[in-house]
Amino acid sequence: MAERILVTSALPYANGPIHIGHAVEYVQTDIYVRFLRSCGKDVVYFCADDTHGTPIEINASKQGLKPEEFVARWYDSHQADFRDLGVSVDYFHSTNSPENKHYAEYIYGQLKDRGDIEKRDIEQAYCEVDKRFLPDRFIKGTCPNCKAADQYGDACEKCGKAYSPTDLIEPRCALCGTPPVRRKSSHLFFKLSLHADFLQETLRKPGFIHPGLATQLQGFFEQGLADWDISRDGPYFGFSIPGETDKYFYVWLDAPIGYIATTEKWAKTTGKAKSALDYWAEGSDARIIHFIGKDIVYFHALFWPAVLKEAGLKRPESVKVHGHLTVNGEKMSKSRGTLIPVRSYLDHLDPSYLRYFYAATLGAGVEDLDLSLKDFRLRVNGELVNNIGNLANRSLSMLAGGALEKRLAPATKEGPGKALVEAALARVPEVREAFEKLEYRNAIRIITEISQSANGFLQNAAPWAKVKTDPEAARADLSDAAEVAYLLGALLTPVIPLVTEKLFVQLNAPPLTFEALATARYPLLDRSRPVGTPEPLLPRLEEERVNAILGQPAAVEPAKEEKKGKGEKAEKKAAESKPAEAKPAAPAVEAAPGEIEIGDFGKVVLKVGKVLAAERVPKADKLLKLTVDLGEGQPRTICSGIAEAFQPEQVQGRNVVVVANLKPRMLRGIESRGMILTAGPGGKNLSLLDPGDMPPGSEVK
Ligand code: MSP
Ligand code: ZN
Repeated sequence: MAERILVTSALPYANGPIHIGHAVEYVQTDIYVRFLRSCGKDVVYFCADDTHGTPIEINASKQGLKPEEFVARWYDSHQADFRDLGVSVDYFHSTNSPENKHYAEYIYGQLKDRGDIEKRDIEQAYCEVDKRFLPDRFIKGTCPNCKAADQYGDACEKCGKAYSPTDLIEPRCALCGTPPVRRKSSHLFFKLSLHADFLQETLRKPGFIHPGLATQLQGFFEQGLADWDISRDGPYFGFSIPGETDKYFYVWLDAPIGYIATTEKWAKTTGKAKSALDYWAEGSDARIIHFIGKDIVYFHALFWPAVLKEAGLKRPESVKVHGHLTVNGEKMSKSRGTLIPVRSYLDHLDPSYLRYFYAATLGAGVEDLDLSLKDFRLRVNGELVNNIGNLANRSLSMLAGGALEKRLAPATKEGPGKALVEAALARVPEVREAFEKLEYRNAIRIITEISQSANGFLQNAAPWAKVKTDPEAARADLSDAAEVAYLLGALLTPVIPLVTEKLFVQLNAPPLTFEALATARYPLLDRSRPVGTPEPLLPRLEEERVNAILGQPAAVEPAKEEKKGKGEKAEKKAAESKPAEAKPAAPAVEAAPGEIEIGDFGKVVLKVGKVLAAERVPKADKLLKLTVDLGEGQPRTICSGIAEAFQPEQVQGRNVVVVANLKPRMLRGIESRGMILTAGPGGKNLSLLDPGDMPPGSEVK
């Protein structure tokens, strides 16, 4: 039986529009799925709306809607966004569905039977006015560290310090402003700590997750895995927990179960499987692959595999993690108008441009990617329109022009035209491998090189000069160039399917697949068929049109949107309240060779530090242990390999430049939190970078 593959994207919250950041994930997944289909694989792709949780419940009630009505509105718009972006899910479902309720209850029952669930009393902040428990992000107050007003219950956005809500000065309910009280409640915990060995083994499996992330996640085990609170008190929008009163499953319990529920719904609707268990039963041969963003790794790599194992279900073979989108080098923001809903983009531009740009930018790593509107326009115009589009249009429009009568030439026996096509065909395995490994930007690079070679060929052959004098020769050259256009159509089908579909029609040739290419030989085109009618595949991007996608942040009423955004964040933060500090941030693994983007440089936080004290490290000739003030209240310890060049007293009191966001490292038993910048070859020959007399903590850019 053919291998079956089940692919998912993370479920968007039914709490706001899909924006172009989400689209990175949906486009990345869709390209992979379309690529697999083109290879002839048996693949299904599922997604759904994630409908439960406090923020959604609160936003619905603010709009005077039942949560069911509220999420139903987002469902329709999300589905339309997926469709119009060309994201080819086999089913888009909702976590607020009977299938999901069934599987959530089933899985919970299994966990309970296996002794994975424990009831414990905990104390939480409670608002007596709103009559609800308040997750961290629903409490505000003054930061105990820097005294900034109006900070959330978990961390200060001004000074960055993490604390617990009880530390806040003058805490109050973020909804109504009343000071919260402490109240006891009993909660149900999933005993994640029992599964540490299993999870560590899972993380070590080759291909399960990006190695850099696997290493990072190891950190959780060193601290000891915290058990996971899977219950919430009412009022809560979610499934009530069987056998309990006014307790609901925490949204992150039933959200990934939505993957299974969607499989079930698809199976029932299409009849293509008996039930979800065809894929998800422990013994199934299906390969399960999740695509997610770096912010939700914890849930997918730690909770989810443990839950599935305990429920006797199939675990994912792989979790593919991508970084986050920034726009013009900065975090997307409503006030800058860069939190662009997919709908606003689609109101102005064809989805193919964005899909192409994301493909051209995405690698397999978890680094963030930037949508600089200028790069976007220049790359799309330079590569997609001028190079690839032009090749197709040049060859086809001359072939279709009166003199050549739409006929292709018979395949040549040898010569530069045949060599061109064969050289292009020889690169197909490279492209294939790049798609397989999610190195889409490599695939795009090879594709543009192939296109370039064919344009160069036409430039040399200059068929336009021969149309009158030697039409057969002109026709032969153009036919070979059209072969390459046909090949590029196949290679680009996962990325820009709507465009390549048009191209195939214009070539009057059947869609070409990766599967067919595995054995294809020159000539690819049936030379006895006339070509179709050429038209430009995609117009150039004009600056004004591109800029028009900005500045329309308020696709929904701005006031409501603002709160939705916050609410969404709130739930996430709340979801991660325990592991929050250790949550994988933006691991700088896998830097691209050579050139970097400005955004890459932006990841390095450089600050002015003042060396308060310096001492030698026993038995380490090269190391000085420095105490450095970075304007953070508490100085840091930093070990620096400068002891051969400097005596401790030479550095004491000096201002230095520090890499401030480096992961802490143990050096000779000392935890070093940062790195001092130096210049020179090393050893005795080193100088310290001097930031002048800027105060400690000043940014270096
Ligand atoms: N509902 C949860 C996922 C549950 S999966 C069982 C959630 N929803 S979300 O709407 O906040 O995000 C959905 C996906 O979009 C996540 O994988 C997230 O990482 C991704 N992205 C959200 N903003 C993004 C960017 N700015 N850039 C890239 N991906 C982004 O999390
Ligand atoms: Zn309140």
